[in-house]
Amino acid sequence: MNVFITRIIDPAGVKLLEEAGLTVKQWTEKRKLTQEELIAECNEADALLSASQQLNKDFLEACKHLKVIALHSVGYDNVDIDAATALKIPVGNTPGVLSEATADTAFLLMMAAARNAFYMNRTIIDGEWDFFEPTANLGKDLSGVTLGVYGLGKIGVEMAKRCAGAFGMKILYHNRSRNEEAEKLLGAELVSFEELLVRSDVLSVHTALTPATEGKFNLAAFKQMKPGAIFVNTARGSIHNETDLTTALEQKMIWGAGLDVTNPEPMKPDSPLLKMPNVAVLPHIGSATEGTRKAMAELAARNIIAGLKGEEIPFAVNPEIYSQGEGTGN
Ligand code: DGY
Repeated sequence: MNVFITRIIDPAGVKLLEEAGLTVKQWTEKRKLTQEELIAECNEADALLSASQQLNKDFLEACKHLKVIALHSVGYDNVDIDAATALKIPVGNTPGVLSEATADTAFLLMMAAARNAFYMNRTIIDGEWDFFEPTANLGKDLSGVTLGVYGLGKIGVEMAKRCAGAFGMKILYHNRSRNEEAEKLLGAELVSFEELLVRSDVLSVHTALTPATEGKFNLAAFKQMKPGAIFVNTARGSIHNETDLTTALEQKMIWGAGLDVTNPEPMKPDSPLLKMPNVAVLPHIGSATEGTRKAMAELAARNIIAGLKGEEIPFAVNPEIYSQGEGTGN
């Protein structure tokens, strides 16, 4: 059976697929496939391992023969899950294995924004390191401040652990449901969204992109935050309104920002955010460590192998297809 992979992934994932007797084809060009190209490739495949492709209803309907789709990500906002479920195609993701690497990135961005680090580095490159001024380039202290986590799941907990351990931060969080384990572990306090905005010195976003979270951090939200607050987003760029974030920073409604995700992606090189000293931006590299990308490739391969055997895939985002009584239907 044939598996099509939309990017070059860690060889450990390919090895697992080949050891399972599958024939693997990887897209090696350094650009996204067009929808037509993806459909053409999938017409030759039984399963799709997809990194960073939009899988909309039209695509899924054109490729309803696929026995399984494995995503090389924990996020699945780029797939029409309802359409996949209606077609009884199991879709898998890669939860858990990227929580620490992504939290490390959030922590890095918090630190970089707090100390103007990326901007200060650029001043050296630009030949602007001249003389010492005691009152110039001052950052924010982080010891003992309050971290607000929007979405205290696996990644949010890892970020909270780092902030509590390194800086003794107090942890607030806003979730749909209580995370009692984190409350015990970190003394985290569940608060309303408004309270999270008002009380956080650092506000870090770790939730999935859904219709309910899209654009959640807009001007009205930033207005309620502390003027000294740092906003960190390593989840999805569409959870914040980037024009509003820019205005909030320009008008000093908040102090700084650290972004691994932007809206749009790629960020335009002339974005005003890139010129602000207290803003640190990375190009969506949250999970990009050797060990994490290997583990993600292996989990995605395990989803494919199980799906092609007709078994329930280990990390399904639409597990309800298995309780509909008809198996995967193809
Ligand atoms: C994820 O795993 O969702 C990462 O953000 C990559 O898209």
